[in-house]
Amino acid sequence: MASKLRYKFRETQLFHFYKSISVWGEYASWKLRHVRGAGAPHLVKQRMIAEFASRFNLQTLVETGTNYAHMLYVNKDKFREIYSIELDEHRVRSARRKFASRTNIHVLQGDSAKVLPQLLSSLKEPCLFWLDGHDFDISTPIKQELDAIYKHPIRGHVLLIDDARWFDGRTPYPTMQQLREKTAHEYPGHTIEVKDDIIRIYISRR
Ligand SMILES: C[S@@+](CC[C@H](N)C(=O)[O-])C[C@H]1O[C@@H](n2cnc3c(N)ncnc32)[C@H](O)[C@@H]1O
Repeated sequence: MASKLRYKFRETQLFHFYKSISVWGEYASWKLRHVRGAGAPHLVKQRMIAEFASRFNLQTLVETGTNYAHMLYVNKDKFREIYSIELDEHRVRSARRKFASRTNIHVLQGDSAKVLPQLLSSLKEPCLFWLDGHDFDISTPIKQELDAIYKHPIRGHVLLIDDARWFDGRTPYPTMQQLREKTAHEYPGHTIEVKDDIIRIYISRR
């Protein structure tokens, strides 16, 4: 019963109001405890997306893993176009309901391993990718997502990949070493670095 109510609550706009306040508590506790190997709080992820969008002047955001659409909510007025891909049909319906009046927000249903390559074929400008579609550290479409982005003819994309701690050889994720080698071979000229558990891949300045 309690979990049903929690899910219902996440489908409301009130959820985003609550999140906008609770992220500060989450951030303060992360700052105070600073547990090594822990994920970053949502506020840090939001700020990193804003920083890279501004630094590289990117107008299109592509997110994998919509979840209950809080990243969409936070960025709804900050990008010209936003695409978000979610596997779970229920979450897709919920996000589409929330942003029904927004013609710049596109929520796509399906496995990002398949949907992202299809979406890429329609993208004509550099984008900011927030790659965060996964079932914890149990399954991830990251390899297929990277294959598709690295082959894309448009240069100047910025990739932010959440949960760097899982690129450690104990999960289906590639290791950081494998990711660095793949990037050097297939996406030359790009910097790859980790900050606050987020992997950042962007074109190196000469
Ligand atoms: C950590 S949540 C995403 C959080 C959200 N991006 C944010 O920043 O607030 C991960 C989401 O990815 C979805 N997911 C899992 N596997 C996926 C896949 N193969 N393709 C697309 N979405 C997937 C899950 O259903 C879940 O909603």
